[in-house]
Amino acid sequence: MNPVSLIRKKRDGGTLRRDELHRFITDYVSGKIPDYQMSAFLMAVYFKGMSSEEQATLTDVMLHSGKVIDLSAIPGVKVDKHSTGGVGDKVSLILAPMVAACGVPVPMISGRGLGHTGGTLDKLESIPGFTTTLSIDEYKRIVAETGLVLIGQTSEIAPADKMMYALRDVTATVESVPLIAGSIMSKKLAEGIDALVLDVKTGNGAFMQTYDDAVSLARALVAVGLNAGKNTVGFITDMSQPLGSMVGNWLEVKESIACLRGRDVRDLMEVTCVLGGAMVYLGGKSASIEEGMKLCRAAIWSGKAYEKFVEIVGRQGGDVSFVHQPEKYPVCRHEREVLCGRNGFVQGFDTRRVGALASGLGAGRSSLTDLIDPKAGIAFWKKIGDRAEEKEPLAVFWTDREGVVDHTARELASCIHITEKEVSPPRPVHAFVDGHGLKPWVMPQLF
Ligand code: URA
Repeated sequence: MNPVSLIRKKRDGGTLRRDELHRFITDYVSGKIPDYQMSAFLMAVYFKGMSSEEQATLTDVMLHSGKVIDLSAIPGVKVDKHSTGGVGDKVSLILAPMVAACGVPVPMISGRGLGHTGGTLDKLESIPGFTTTLSIDEYKRIVAETGLVLIGQTSEIAPADKMMYALRDVTATVESVPLIAGSIMSKKLAEGIDALVLDVKTGNGAFMQTYDDAVSLARALVAVGLNAGKNTVGFITDMSQPLGSMVGNWLEVKESIACLRGRDVRDLMEVTCVLGGAMVYLGGKSASIEEGMKLCRAAIWSGKAYEKFVEIVGRQGGDVSFVHQPEKYPVCRHEREVLCGRNGFVQGFDTRRVGALASGLGAGRSSLTDLIDPKAGIAFWKKIGDRAEEKEPLAVFWTDREGVVDHTARELASCIHITEKEVSPPRPVHAFVDGHGLKPWVMPQLF
């Protein structure tokens, strides 16, 4: 195979055969194809797209560039969830123990936060002692013993993605549906799962900001999952404001602990229960998503989801006393309240900027080697649709960093828009995607 003719074929809108894609990607991983040719290929895909067959092949080749974990010896349908990420997205922390408490094994491999979004691994690691770097053998053992495991990606999984993503990042080719689908699904399919629920976020804090782009990505991800023989469904969920009230690593763990103990943070728990209901359904423990949602709620109310969280924190080396008594966690040196400043209703958030501000307080990183401060972050006391009074608190934030407090207070106030007219809150879950296509999601009247 001549790499130049393959690049030219894609550049001119042609469809690549399986053997061509296979050879090109494997030669790249083994160092026979240089970065500049892979960069040209990525740009050609960015402009010309890929057929669904090409997408499936790309994912399969990327998946098999590394280890594919075999969990077939563990009984039950193993189900995971993947979110495209957002601000305050702590769903996994509640969802994973809740679904495991319903009897569905959840092997979860998550990522770190970068830019304006947080990552599940950083949140988990804010619990003193919690380790997310386990060997594949330990990963298997823990999921077999507890029905749940929460780890970070190892270098053995989908190395092609690691190499290609690093190039995409510096060649302006990240925002391509087939490349994103290959990247996400190659990692997820390597986990040893049988089924997958996707949470594709839309809105001004999401990776896919427009609804149509989120739908295209959700359709592509579901198609790749089904093609790989995994039962896969997706939801389009709202990211036009931070999810829940807290943004920042330990703050999000604390909010998740409260939800696991029964607090109903409306948007957060609605998204968590819908995704959880789908996981329980795909895991064969309920006859429908709605019934799965009821089982999820029951796992929260009975305390079983909380117990499962305590169990996995202890099993992965975390100090469970912080779960039982979150108030004993250290606090930041600086705390500042931001007031509403006028009467009216909260109309909207500049969610991406909110994420960037949290990052500037120490809660996130702009490069993967930056250190994060688990204590830093923001709590929002108002969400879209809430009534605001001039002197009421709108948000409060915490940081140890010097010289950022006044600037952040001003910026944060300008990120949250208040209007005179009444505003309806956005629906937390917009739509459902499966192999039959897309349907608007109608929230069942269960509760
Ligand atoms: N997340 C991934 O893992 N890969 C992408 O390409 C985009 C988001």
